[in-house]
Amino acid sequence: MSIHGKARRITTHVLQEMKEAGEKIAMLTAYDYSLAKIVDDASVDVILVGDSASNVMAGHETTLPITLDQMIYHATSVVNAVNKSLVVVDLPFGSYQGNSRKALASSIRIMKESGAHAIKMEGGKEVSDSVERILSAGIPVMGHLGLTPQSIYKFGTYSVRATKEEEAARLMKDSRHLEKLGCFAIVLEKIPADLAKEVSESVKIPVIGIGAGPDVDGQVLVLHDMLGITHQFHPRFLRRYLNLYDDIKQAIGNYVNDVRTKDFPNENEQY
Ligand code: KIV
Repeated sequence: MSIHGKARRITTHVLQEMKEAGEKIAMLTAYDYSLAKIVDDASVDVILVGDSASNVMAGHETTLPITLDQMIYHATSVVNAVNKSLVVVDLPFGSYQGNSRKALASSIRIMKESGAHAIKMEGGKEVSDSVERILSAGIPVMGHLGLTPQSIYKFGTYSVRATKEEEAARLMKDSRHLEKLGCFAIVLEKIPADLAKEVSESVKIPVIGIGAGPDVDGQVLVLHDMLGITHQFHPRFLRRYLNLYDDIKQAIGNYVNDVRTKDFPNENEQY
């Protein structure tokens, strides 16, 4: 039986065992109870309550506006649905940068109020103090390197990161640094596949890729993107498993038509 199959609940230790056994880790985002229930039932290892909720739930252009209170609301809804998956919650922009005490206070609020199992934060060496302080409180930390959307105004574009030698070397150094600090896993977003492979081979902790090629320890996608609920976003790394935008629009159109033509409700749909 697989390590996932044997585990009653997915923990950070189970993920480590999966990496050591070469068993790939499947991670998806979720932000609400109903979809998180399906994701958990479909045996996804890790559910990320990502700050991408800012885009797909609230319609903001970037991840910057979402607040800690809003992240806790989404995380609580997800935790209420989950039986087995590990639930990781993004520390939102402004809740940790440049202040490790604030980072710890934000993480404690997430863990205490939502019941989540771990937090994720963007950044390398510059977030060392926060990572250390959060870990010292017994809260597992997942790192996030490469394309870090909370720094979009520093980079200016959502293009592929670490294509130049200097940035690739920094990313490799940051990955080793996060491992040394005690992070239990690292997300690598939108970087060359060769570099992601190198990172995954040089650290012992699981490396989860999004737009980072196949040679990492697991993959993550934004749920609304892979289900085709969002339909105007076409990055090369995105595989769409459904086109729910079209299906849902069609179903709603049928309902509207049935109401307007007085087909709904019929004699079996009334009291
Ligand atoms: O917020 C998010 O959904 C993420 C993933 C893209 C990794 O950070």
